[in-house]
Amino acid sequence: MSNLNKPPVSPEELAAAAAMQRTLHGGAEVKSEEVLAAQAAFTEMKNRYSPLSDDHLDLLFREPRTQYAWQDREVSDDLIRTLYDLTKMASTSVNSCPGRFLFLRSEESKERLRPTIMGNNVEKIMGAPVVAIIAHDHDFYERLDQLVPYTDLKPMFIDKPAYCEVTAFRNGTLQGAQLIMAARALGLDCGPMSGFNNQAVDDLFFAGTSVVSNFLCCLGYGDPSRLFQRLPRLDFDQACELL
Ligand SMILES: Cc1cc2nc3c(=O)[nH]c(=O)nc-3n(C[C@H](O)[C@H](O)[C@H](O)COP(=O)(O)O)c2cc1C
Repeated sequence: MSNLNKPPVSPEELAAAAAMQRTLHGGAEVKSEEVLAAQAAFTEMKNRYSPLSDDHLDLLFREPRTQYAWQDREVSDDLIRTLYDLTKMASTSVNSCPGRFLFLRSEESKERLRPTIMGNNVEKIMGAPVVAIIAHDHDFYERLDQLVPYTDLKPMFIDKPAYCEVTAFRNGTLQGAQLIMAARALGLDCGPMSGFNNQAVDDLFFAGTSVVSNFLCCLGYGDPSRLFQRLPRLDFDQACELL
């Protein structure tokens, strides 16, 4: 997030952008004041903030570790709501927002999960104050009226189950990744886990719905006594290409 030091955008530029926005929304009527306000808010934000400090980059990216043991410290419902408020802002294709998040806090709800967890993941997961089931709804398009009020996008998805599945999985996973980053930004630690029986979780928690589980994410304050050394990552030249 660089401080671009740009002057505020002129009214003419904003009007041109609003016209472009109308085109992008299928020519449907878009209230230009709302578009202008959105553009002004974004420009103002970019001018107000500098890139994150190195300390913040450490906190969010370089130093967090996957946690396997947990302090006996509560995660409040208010904090979970704040976490969702940051998670929900993730970009998703056509603003589909297919991610669904079940936060298990009670012992009873975590005990329901226990038999679905594989091997030595049980103790890593059961000790967490909160276990989030990161899931997605294959019928996410049913909420597109609310999510994209300008135009009817449902025909893109109705009767196309394979397309719905891949769209829901892709975007639900992105929302799950944003949840991990949001949790770190709020001072929480995470323990993402895929070593569990997805079908069993779906039968227990999402029976009779179009929602399916993706991965689990333990949330709380980690107990560093169970950490092992950091595993290496791929170098730029191994994972990236500049074309
Ligand atoms: C989607 C996902 C699933 C994972 N599943 C498991 C798991 O089932 N069991 C486990 O012990 N660790 C699991 N992990 C943790 C990874 O092994 C860990 O994030 C990786 O080794 C990097 O560790 P670090 O985050 O401490 O650098 C999972 C991580 C992710 C992101």
